[in-house]
Amino acid sequence: MEVNMKGIILAGGSGTRLYPCTISVSKQLLPIYDKPLIYYPLSMLMLARIREILIITTPQDIDNYKKLLGDGSRIGVHFEYAIQENPRGLADAFIVGEKFIGNDSVCLVLGDNVFYGATMSDILEQAKRSIKDGGASIFGCLMKNPQDFGVVEFDDHRNVISIEEKPKKPKSNYAVPGLYFYDNQVVEIAKNVKPSARGEIEISSVNEAYLKRGQLHVTLMTRGVTWFDTGSPKGMHKASGFVKTLQEMQGFYLSCIEEIAWRKHFIDDVQLRKCGEELKQTDYGKYLLSLLNNEEE
Ligand code: G1P
Repeated sequence: MEVNMKGIILAGGSGTRLYPCTISVSKQLLPIYDKPLIYYPLSMLMLARIREILIITTPQDIDNYKKLLGDGSRIGVHFEYAIQENPRGLADAFIVGEKFIGNDSVCLVLGDNVFYGATMSDILEQAKRSIKDGGASIFGCLMKNPQDFGVVEFDDHRNVISIEEKPKKPKSNYAVPGLYFYDNQVVEIAKNVKPSARGEIEISSVNEAYLKRGQLHVTLMTRGVTWFDTGSPKGMHKASGFVKTLQEMQGFYLSCIEEIAWRKHFIDDVQLRKCGEELKQTDYGKYLLSLLNNEEE
């Protein structure tokens, strides 16, 4: 039986590392090449067939997100919106989203994480299945600068023995990307997390709590998967260049939410045509219309 899973996109924060770009605009609305940054994490939820999605953002940005994404019916999903008054830490998403989550499990994706991999759909569906009897499922990605992230520590048998948030001396090169699958215990766990030295309730503490309960699955992402953290101008530029190159060389679009909705049968041909017509003055819109004339996968 399918696990009933909801999705949360955390698109709050003040984006100070991207000033002056983010003084007046929320970071996750800035473009990565030809589409808003938030499309990329949103597409991960859609690939995992998660269609009930909560977007958490700040009081000043919420209207812009509503303008961009609406109620979701355009792409066959359902969006709700919630406000995080202060950036209290990633784990706060489960407290802000408690009512939305209800009795279901939940996938949290950070609004500024960009993933690409041909096998992404399988990886996500697998993670979703892995918690059908409870627990949490997270990932580890090889990084040159693990100290900037949550870091996984292994014993000699490759068992995970700790998750540390931004350790000065990382115990491995495997960083935890901003994509997390949790069962319903996450709400209660988040409520009991003690704030860290930087005053935030850290997602790594949530993951540690699952580890202590013997309920944490960690999947190492292989070479075939690319993960970009877009927290700096360089990171954004790198991700944009990657998207542009791949789209131009291979002719298919990355994280094109309308295409995913159509391929996953959230919307039909008529709706895809409507989306394409709305944007037809752009290459993006032309691409959507071209999908209808070229049905092979
Ligand atoms: C957050 C998490 C960290 C994770 C990272 C992924 O860091 O705290 O564990 O590895 O996202 O992007 P932040 O970007 O808030 O510094």
